[in-house]
Amino acid sequence: MLRASGVLTFPTPMLNCLVLGGGGREHALCDSLAHSPSCEKLYALPGSRGISEMTGALCPGTIYSSETIPPMSSEVSGEITNEASSKLASIDLLSPSSIVSFCVSHSIDLVIVGPEQPLACGIADALTSSGISVFAPLASAARIESSKVWMKDILSRAGIRSASYNVADSLSAARKLLRRCTSFPIVIKADGLASGKGVVIANNREEADLAIERAMVERCFGSAGDCLLFEDFLSGEELSYFSLCDGDAESGVRFLGVARDYKRSLDGDKGLNTGGMGAFAKSSPFVERRSLEEVSVRGEIVRPLLRQIEKRSTSYRGVLFLGLLVSSSGVNVLEVNARFGDPEAQTLLPLLEGDIASTFLAAANGCIKEEESLRSRSGLGSRLFDFSEGLHSVSVVASSKGYPSSYATGSAIRDIDNFESSSETSLYHSGTELRRVEGVELFHSSGGRVFTINARGSSFSSARARVYEALSSINWRDGFYRRDIASEKDTQSFESCCAKILRFA
Ligand code: GLY
Repeated sequence: MLRASGVLTFPTPMLNCLVLGGGGREHALCDSLAHSPSCEKLYALPGSRGISEMTGALCPGTIYSSETIPPMSSEVSGEITNEASSKLASIDLLSPSSIVSFCVSHSIDLVIVGPEQPLACGIADALTSSGISVFAPLASAARIESSKVWMKDILSRAGIRSASYNVADSLSAARKLLRRCTSFPIVIKADGLASGKGVVIANNREEADLAIERAMVERCFGSAGDCLLFEDFLSGEELSYFSLCDGDAESGVRFLGVARDYKRSLDGDKGLNTGGMGAFAKSSPFVERRSLEEVSVRGEIVRPLLRQIEKRSTSYRGVLFLGLLVSSSGVNVLEVNARFGDPEAQTLLPLLEGDIASTFLAAANGCIKEEESLRSRSGLGSRLFDFSEGLHSVSVVASSKGYPSSYATGSAIRDIDNFESSSETSLYHSGTELRRVEGVELFHSSGGRVFTINARGSSFSSARARVYEALSSINWRDGFYRRDIASEKDTQSFESCCAKILRFA
């Protein structure tokens, strides 16, 4: 305990943090954690070379390209040898016991889970039983994402509006439901986790038949598609709404921000559905100690939902990510996720400053109401925050040509190393690997979505201009990106949507 000016203060505990995952969302999490005063050592499993080079996170699970074993960065080489690293490369994120062993042997205090699959496998349950703090829900609460049928039931019991639906748990039941459909489009969803590919908007009977065939006959989602939901198609404006939850539905919920993402691969919302080609967001009004809270969606949707989850399973901790649809007839919940979105995390997290490690720890340990360190990066010098004046953030994802269908990997991304992050612009790696070519180390593509540029600004148009300027400085001939992210039309409709449904007090 420290005594300063006659006031007793408690030192912030120094934390060893572990981020699970290795994509752009996890890069953004590592970036925020690396800037947290209370983060002592930062690990990511598997992480990536891009994440370790840019944030200093130790990524012992990084699998090096077979062309070369690059030298470990000086920070990494102190503790983890290449031999140990290759052993760790085999750690399976879906094996809670392996993650617990890693945490014990590396004295991890706090685990932050990026993707949804480890949650469904019970990673938070195993860590909690071992006395390790984890910023993520237990599997029975994460079911809100891992079973869409359960999610719809919870929404309906909580009296929250969402599309009308029917459930088919066999091929014959699905075909029978389809025969009864008289109008299209309809939405067909796989019940389980399908890496963002389990939702089909079927515009006619043939498309619906194909969706059923792929899920239930070809079983392209495995057991996740053994049960299907048939939902009415709703139209309106989509909004992603993020809350931090500490397990207390009444006093333990804080608004993080709102975002909109772009799921289609091509400009004008054409092309196939992807994991997300870009996003834009506005920060939440966490300011100094007089933070304002969003009270409308929190009161009408978030709290009733959390109360029902607790009633039917257990209390909910971690991020709650609501996919909302706003229309003239009101707000509907389209989906509920138990984690940060990707690329939304790469758009929202850069808007927050302060000690995110201590905020995540407080949420994990059920004491978010005492936590005051996280705030908006407003830069406005104002203690009272006006949502309309907040900081704006835009992210654009650069992907391999051909994504999300077939695409080649292993192409050199020149100039990515020359990118300088600034207070206004960041780069996040998602599908890259470092290879040595003719004696020179260069990042190459290793996935569909490869890297993201994020920029902040006092308006969406200034943030957008910065993103596209940064993208034009990176020479990657085998990549593409959408050129219409955060267009004026989209940001205006987003603003009017926010004005319609959010209320701060
Ligand atoms: N971008 C949507 C998601 O992460 O689910």
